[in-house]
Amino acid sequence: MDKFVIKGGKALHGSVAISGAKNSALPVMAAALLTTEKVSVHNIPKVRDLITMSKLLAFMGAKVSIAELPASDYEIEATTVSDAVAPYELVKTMRASILTLGPLMARVGVARVSLPGGCAIGARPVDLHLTALEKMGAEIITSHGYIEARVPNNGRLKGAHIVFEKITVTGTENILMAATLAKGETILENCAREPEVTDLVAMLRKMGAQIEGDGTATLRIRGVEKLYGTDHTVIPDRIEAGTFLVAGAITNGDLTVTNCAPEHLGAVIAKMQETGVRFDEIDKTTLRVRGAKKLVSSDMTTEEYPGFATDMQAQYMALATQAEGTSVITETIFENRFLHASEMVRMGANISIDGRRAVVRGPAQLSGTTVQASDLRASAGLVLAGLVASGETIIDRVYHIDRGYEGIVEKLRGVGANIERVHGTGS
Ligand code: UD1
Repeated sequence: MDKFVIKGGKALHGSVAISGAKNSALPVMAAALLTTEKVSVHNIPKVRDLITMSKLLAFMGAKVSIAELPASDYEIEATTVSDAVAPYELVKTMRASILTLGPLMARVGVARVSLPGGCAIGARPVDLHLTALEKMGAEIITSHGYIEARVPNNGRLKGAHIVFEKITVTGTENILMAATLAKGETILENCAREPEVTDLVAMLRKMGAQIEGDGTATLRIRGVEKLYGTDHTVIPDRIEAGTFLVAGAITNGDLTVTNCAPEHLGAVIAKMQETGVRFDEIDKTTLRVRGAKKLVSSDMTTEEYPGFATDMQAQYMALATQAEGTSVITETIFENRFLHASEMVRMGANISIDGRRAVVRGPAQLSGTTVQASDLRASAGLVLAGLVASGETIIDRVYHIDRGYEGIVEKLRGVGANIERVHGTGS
């Protein structure tokens, strides 16, 4: 398995370009299943999860044309869906495979999708996806580890009034896609308002879907008979951008982050400003971040958008280790998302965990050692810690980070970090 080796202590300077949003590209690609026509998607990040999604769509019978992998432009043509199955082998490497369930039910009225199961950060059930589809007329059983869903009598899903018990991002996306081809009107309440949901709405609308309420907690979808091919460019990745903002700040550097969407980073910028980090919005797609001689602590609670993203919690924790004072970090979205904390403690951080709260006392002089990445964003937090640690930090199991960060080693090296990937053999 590959490892990253980081020699910390270098301030980052220069300019780094942000890739397309992984969490936008995934539902946008799944939405191609909703039409027989060709869908072209641009600004796809060159990361493993998108390759997995293209394999999944190809497995189902879609023609996925890519010049070479990894690519940022995909053409998907699902003229027929020959096999409405998301097999365990693909789902186990990418939970977001569940995003094919809604489109399959809408398009062919039948789907067999492996249950995603839990992951390092929590149980992560998909019950809300399933009860919503049932309200739309689907019959669903789970058996032998698979969700077996179908619309009775080879019929169409029907519009329904669904109030999500809890805000779910992929749940909102799945049911939104299902509703576009359902018979009648669907009202979805307590929806996720993440920019990635809004991006999906924009794409579906270009395909002919009738949707109102994007950006709000209530989506109204009037089902149509047919959707059409389209061309779509996914939004910039706000989590990758946020990670680089922390990289600039934690190393007391001066970074210009380009191709990003500052309007999606409001909570992250506001919180980091409280710690003393300086920002300039150069233009609508460019942010400059500068560190501070002395960072100060600030408590942070993760929330659904527009709150502070759980996907930025590990990165913020790395920053908090360098801030003077006590930062209380409260994780409200996932029940077990502090696995990076014990690795940061091994690097010399002062962090104690009490249930969903982490108490970080800083500043701590971190020192490099070998640490294990446990999930995608935890890995990013450890990379950031490694950038300020003295000596050498070796990050193991970086396949997690390869799922979601395009060329992170090259991008960090480009702004002065001393980081390299060491190709390993076996486990
Ligand atoms: C998405 C993002 C992920 C991010 C998360 C929260 C994608 C591909 N992934 O994941 O990066 O960390 O949003 O912002 O977009 N829940 C249930 N039942 C359900 C569905 C969810 O109880 O049926 C719970 C989850 O366990 C979790 C919370 O709701 O506690 C939010 O999860 P959800 O928004 O669904 O996360 P994902 O869509 O899986």
